[in-house]
Amino acid sequence: MTVLLIGAGTRTRKLYGPWLSGLPPYEAEPVRPLAVVDTDLTAARDVARDLPGATAAHPRDLDRILADDRPGLVVVATPDATHHDYAARALAAGRTVLVEKPIATTAADAFALVRAEQASGGRLLVGHNLRFTNIHAQVRDLLAGGHIGTVTGADFHYTLNPSHSRSYFTRWHRARAASGGLEVTKASHHLDLLAWWLDARPVAVTALLERRHYRPGHGGIPADADIHDSLNALIQYTSGVTVHYALTLNAPTEGYTCTLRGTKGVCTVRYDARSGPHLLQLQALDGGHATRRRVTREEGSHAGADRRMLLALPQALAPGAPRRFATAADAALAVATGTTMHDSSTHGRLLPVPQPLTVPEGPR
Ligand SMILES: NC(=O)c1ccc[n+]([C@@H]2O[C@H](COP(=O)([O-])OP(=O)(O)OC[C@H]3O[C@@H](n4cnc5c(N)ncnc54)[C@H](O)[C@@H]3O)[C@@H](O)[C@H]2O)c1
Repeated sequence: MTVLLIGAGTRTRKLYGPWLSGLPPYEAEPVRPLAVVDTDLTAARDVARDLPGATAAHPRDLDRILADDRPGLVVVATPDATHHDYAARALAAGRTVLVEKPIATTAADAFALVRAEQASGGRLLVGHNLRFTNIHAQVRDLLAGGHIGTVTGADFHYTLNPSHSRSYFTRWHRARAASGGLEVTKASHHLDLLAWWLDARPVAVTALLERRHYRPGHGGIPADADIHDSLNALIQYTSGVTVHYALTLNAPTEGYTCTLRGTKGVCTVRYDARSGPHLLQLQALDGGHATRRRVTREEGSHAGADRRMLLALPQALAPGAPRRFATAADAALAVATGTTMHDSSTHGRLLPVPQPLTVPEGPR
């Protein structure tokens, strides 16, 4: 499979570059790098240099490369607000696309990509890598297996440490126009995971978004930073479940605790983003002993999820393969939930989450 890589930044240097260069554990991967595209040609050349056979190119050459070289896969790993345009162009050329999360920064763009995929001869997979973490697959199997009965509610609280938190306010993410705010660029990870676990669609949101830690123009934070740093939301799903979602910055820990309540028991998940192991606890409602399972934190970036995601790619692209990657519609709903959090906080009320067929045209 020939691969065209768009974006030669941090994500590519840490993940897609090593993958395409065939370094372990990717030495058996059937991928052949074609070109690296970036507005920064120096960055594109730096990445392409380590990829046998790859050239560096500017985005103005993209349509020619798509038409003439016909890559088997286009990977989009550029800042979030640019995902829509690149993914749409690759789909229009009939290409298969792996786009980084979030699929887009507005619900309108995200749903436009759902339609673009339907109208194209290509396919769109979204890099919601948390689906590939070992503990996350175990939670999904546990819920699907009915181990806590029917899920009725959940609390999901993600925390970020100070240096990671601060980076969102100094890099491009600080502008909501570029990242969608933390409710999109960060929360879309968790919102996709929750919908995947619950096997349900989000339908309504009420939220409070605040600025508690970072003041634009103070303490080295650029004056144009306009995103929020504290998110609290209640999300209702088609299955009747209500989730309390929170994202807290400047915490001592990095990761989350999630409690899922069911008709037969409670499942508690502790995911440590920096060091392991993770923890999975099951407690039956009849008062029996709790079962605690330590789940190894796998080697590699994002607790092994990145490696598992890329190794799963060839199979995912095969016809009739079981669905594991987030689809365009899954990822679009995660974005729409995030943008609805923002709108709900602005208007101070519960709002419906726009769905693929009802999303209004134009930017939200
Ligand atoms: N799934 C994950 O866990 C995960 C982790 C990190 C980043 N990401 C995602 O990966 C993407 C890239 O993030 P990053 O940290 O590498 O960002 P980055 O800023 O380090 O790199 C972005 C690159 O894109 C280039 N670029 C900027 N605008 C462009 C444009 N219009 N056209 C072409 N190239 C352009 C820049 O020159 C830079 O080389 C983002 O969408 C981010 O959300 C995902």
